[in-house]
Amino acid sequence: MRTFDSGKSTFAEVGPIQVARWEQQYQFGTTLPFGAMWYTVPPGASSVRDCHPEPELSIVVAGTGFVEVASGITEVGVGSAFLLDSEEAHIVHNRTEDGSLTIFSAYWMPLDDAAAPAGQAPVGEPADV
Ligand code: NI
Repeated sequence: MRTFDSGKSTFAEVGPIQVARWEQQYQFGTTLPFGAMWYTVPPGASSVRDCHPEPELSIVVAGTGFVEVASGITEVGVGSAFLLDSEEAHIVHNRTEDGSLTIFSAYWMPLDDAAAPAGQAPVGEPADV
């Protein structure tokens, strides 16, 4: 087992937010079929608009996020999660004046062959449940 201490991670500035991408922090090689990161949105700030082929599953680990997509803005509290579809544009707002917003996100290439960009194989088949 390995543990990952967000407090010891090295965060890089991406616009107004701080991002620690796991692949830059930990030596996974090709052992994980997904990428992961922590990011922090300062009080009163918003992430830059993001849109990418990878679906993205995010869990709020500190603060409260306001997640903006085409259909509107949804409040997501600490301990709750949100899932963004492939190519679903998103902006994450921290509307507090004094508390940081920290989110863990995992993202991966779509499992559906049809959704994968040309020339890229899907990561794998979904597990039976
Ligand atoms: Ni994103």
